Amino acid sequence: MTTPDRTDAQKTVLKKHPPSKILVDGGDPEETRQVFKMLGFVDGQTTNPSLIAKNPEVKHLVASGHQLSEEQEAQEYRKIVQEISPLVGDAGVSIEVFADLSTSAERMLQQGREMFKWIPNGHIKYPCTFEGLKAAQRSVAEGIRVNMTLCFSQQQAAAVYAATKGSKSPVYVSPFIGRLDDAGQNGVDLITNIVRMFAGSDHHVLVLAASIRNLPHLLYSFYAGAELVTVPAKVLEQWSGEGMPLPGENFAYQPVGARIPYEHLDLGQPWERFNIEHELTRKGIEKFVSDYRATLRKAS
Ligand code: E4P
Repeated sequence: MTTPDRTDAQKTVLKKHPPSKILVDGGDPEETRQVFKMLGFVDGQTTNPSLIAKNPEVKHLVASGHQLSEEQEAQEYRKIVQEISPLVGDAGVSIEVFADLSTSAERMLQQGREMFKWIPNGHIKYPCTFEGLKAAQRSVAEGIRVNMTLCFSQQQAAAVYAATKGSKSPVYVSPFIGRLDDAGQNGVDLITNIVRMFAGSDHHVLVLAASIRNLPHLLYSFYAGAELVTVPAKVLEQWSGEGMPLPGENFAYQPVGARIPYEHLDLGQPWERFNIEHELTRKGIEKFVSDYRATLRKAS
């Protein structure tokens, strides 16, 4: 197998919308506008605490000594997503709750309810943890759209499915490709495995391929049938620069780490029975917390 070489045999120049909805993975409305100009469309956007900390205005405030209170940070976040909201299509804007390893489902839900009011097209991001899943279960019962983030295993995706069954709106689950690669695994396998697991399901959960770091990740996600992909502007720039290729019939992907085997799981089980623990979910929460705290006043 070889990495896609982007010869004419291995790509089809885009004539229509790609097979997956395209979301911008970022925290700067200006970047979203640029991507729109470049592609002619943007279906949605995902944000997270690290991306918000990198927003030029937030960075400027922090650099000039104006560290924010938690309330100011939430106001900044709200301002950013309100500016992005009208720029995107029907995949909406994902807004992440601030959660550390001890945040309760109740506290996440309180934030989710508040954030969901910020814009008409929000999806609330909760982590794939026990408390995050409890918050998601209650959110969908209240009509709050959710995006379950920091997903690193098929078991976590199965738990998302079982916890949100009956949701009236599509639920997103976000498997993180790049961070699995970083940990020595072949991250794209998780996309294939989850898509396969959901093939015979009621399809209330859609796969949103995340942590996409390069063009092969993007093309593989199209190829595997992810319903949505969230992509940093610089990767979209490269994709656009190459004529927005799609994986052709001879598409091949060079595995980058240990293969992730498929697991046969019973989606009809109560969600609490799945093994939802994952070290990378824990590490991901810690990283989001430290990026978020870096923008906050020490006293808060
Ligand atoms: C999007 O929802 C995720 O937060 C994002 O794709 C994570 O990407 P990273 O692993 O490159 O930080």
